[in-house]
Amino acid sequence: MVKKVKVGLLASGNGSNLQAIIDQSERGELPAEVVCVITNRSDAFALERARKHGITAIHLSHRDFSGREAYDAALVAALKGHGVELVVLAGFMRIITTVLLDAFPLAVLNIHPALLPSFPGLDAQQQALEYGVKVTGCTVHFVDEGTDTGPIIIQAVVPILPDDTVESLSLRIHHQEHKTYPEAIRLFAQGRLSVKGRRVMIAGGHASSDASLINPPV
Ligand code: GRF
Repeated sequence: MVKKVKVGLLASGNGSNLQAIIDQSERGELPAEVVCVITNRSDAFALERARKHGITAIHLSHRDFSGREAYDAALVAALKGHGVELVVLAGFMRIITTVLLDAFPLAVLNIHPALLPSFPGLDAQQQALEYGVKVTGCTVHFVDEGTDTGPIIIQAVVPILPDDTVESLSLRIHHQEHKTYPEAIRLFAQGRLSVKGRRVMIAGGHASSDASLINPPV
């Protein structure tokens, strides 16, 4: 039997990525088990999703701590207390510090709703619409000390359509997020990821040299 990697997931909101990861894992498609979900907001729907699946759901408010480091130390204690091996950030609206990163070297992932390094930070879909790009997407990356700057594991491209709003575009991006995040976790769990400089190497990777998305289509 394949050993399952123990995932601790941090979220602040809806948790649709959490749901996609739980669903794949429950179907036996992912060698990973979400062992705890932590949110900084008491009203995060991610908490309910976790409880529904019998996963430990923890609300840890950043307001109860003197600063980012103190908050991250509490996160580390909770994550380590649950035997977490991989930390997955999914819509976690907090900047994390080296306190968390040093406790989980090369084992903190994030997903961003744009093709990094384009449109980092908040409101990535809005930024893409305002800039007028024809394609955007999502990026799963290792987390480093910057904001949305860590080595990239996997990206998915989605077209921007003439009538798109932030909502319609977000929906299309989410659809890809729910495929790419579990895939990145699978690669991690299988021990296939290594980092050389900024580049993430995937052992036994199946790169496609002719994949393309041209938008508008030609
Ligand atoms: C996703 O769009 C992700 O890229 C961003 O936050 C959003 C979280 O969505 N970092 P959900 O809470 O998983 O539905």
